[in-house]
Amino acid sequence: MRLTIVGTGYVGLVTGTCFANTGNEVVCLDLDEAKIEALRAGISPIYEPGLDDLIKKALRARRLHFTTDRTTAYDGAEAIFICVGTPSDAEGRADLKYIFSAARDVAAALDRRPPPAPGELPPIVVTKSTVPVGTNAKVKELIRSLTDRPFAMASNPEFLKEGAAIHDFYKPDRVIIGVEDKAVGTELRELYEPYVRQGNPIFVMDIPSAEMVKYASNAMLATKISFINEIANLSEALGAEIEEVRRGMCSDSRIGNQFLYPGLGYGGSCFPKDVLACVSMGTDSGTPTALLKAVHDVNQAQRQTFIQKINQHFAGELADKRIAVWGLSFKPRTDDVREAPAINVVRWLVAQGADVVAYDPVATETFRAEVGDTIRYTETNFDALDGADALVICTEWSEFRQPQFDEMATRMRGRVIFDGRNCYRPEVVAEHGFTYYSIGRRPVHA
Ligand code: UDX
Ligand code: UDX
Repeated sequence: MRLTIVGTGYVGLVTGTCFANTGNEVVCLDLDEAKIEALRAGISPIYEPGLDDLIKKALRARRLHFTTDRTTAYDGAEAIFICVGTPSDAEGRADLKYIFSAARDVAAALDRRPPPAPGELPPIVVTKSTVPVGTNAKVKELIRSLTDRPFAMASNPEFLKEGAAIHDFYKPDRVIIGVEDKAVGTELRELYEPYVRQGNPIFVMDIPSAEMVKYASNAMLATKISFINEIANLSEALGAEIEEVRRGMCSDSRIGNQFLYPGLGYGGSCFPKDVLACVSMGTDSGTPTALLKAVHDVNQAQRQTFIQKINQHFAGELADKRIAVWGLSFKPRTDDVREAPAINVVRWLVAQGADVVAYDPVATETFRAEVGDTIRYTETNFDALDGADALVICTEWSEFRQPQFDEMATRMRGRVIFDGRNCYRPEVVAEHGFTYYSIGRRPVHA
């Protein structure tokens, strides 16, 4: 099919690139000139394992094109995927201004088309961005108010985990397609056929249900994380060991063991905003969402709980302490720092007058753009340790998993580790002479 992707962020870029690599003709549109220039040169503006190669491959095959031209971008498109950002606004609602801006561009493009030939299927406007239930109806109404040309609406939410987005695109657990017209469902089902050859399902349903599936899925995953963090805090207070509790609990087949890892809580551009969007949908519809409000509150509080561990250990005296920070991205295998717990931790340390030296394998520049140069950044994780009174771990990058504790001890001034992602076994750390704070486990002292 000939496709236009609007928005080349983490979702749009992966979507367009993967569709192009299975033979579709794809035009990716973004308003960010620099981003498009880089993409035309085969350089991905985001870190996503394997994406660079797929972009270059599709460019060589001339099946992937990048443009900022909001008129020609839609020429000949049989399906237009809207993948622009839907960030939270000040009240926690999904800000839809980019969605409606894209919808107006689509309407103008459709209006420039000649009337369809007899039997020609109308172009499909597909909302892939996460949008509150009912948004597709508003997009349809807006486009209809601007053009008489025929088109069809569809909702096709994404379930891509950053750092594993290409795998998740090509091997989805399920594909969700919301339509008003069964023929449109058939067309989109064919588009996704190459990715469901192992029998993973494509569910075609009504549009509001498709919009809701996305929120329900992310809210469920976020709930699991806040749940395990609350149990971790309770375990720690009562002298239980959360990793043992986890093992015992997760062996129940009804519970499972995914998304039940305690830590600093969830970040990223999805869970925080999607949980808040659910709460807002509840408010706007007069439907109580007490559980999801609590999921959000528990998640935000988890960062403060961790910060208090640092504060209490140093008895509030952080001024002039040198603190090494390992991990800045919101999770491993991404350079995305949106809602990253490291932002809260680092900002607090700086406010206390600490001298912060940070390392992240790929997110230094995105973190610097957010937090600036009030801290120093190093090229290696061990360089960040020189003279440090303590090490704080905010992201569980695999390169942190088995450090040379002896070398750490020689480079650091203090022997304290605050581990926000339970990277280590407490007894191993204590054997190397460190005091070790983590999540859901009592501190161990050297
Ligand atoms: C976004 C939403 O945040 C997410 O909820 C949705 O599921 C998919 O789209 P993401 O790809 O991470 O996820 O967004 P972001 O990284 O912010 O990329 C959005 C892109 O759209 C940016 O490149 C931005 O330049 C572009 N954009 C934004 C447009 O091209 N036109 C606009 O009007 C607005
Ligand atoms: C998520 C959803 O997984 C994906 O389906 C959706 O399309 C977009 O949002 P993403 O935000 O990229 O993907 O990352 P994910 O791997 O889901 O992790 C989200 C956050 O939860 C991260 O901050 C991670 O550190 C945290 N997390 C995850 C935990 O704290 N504990 C866990 O057990 C799992």
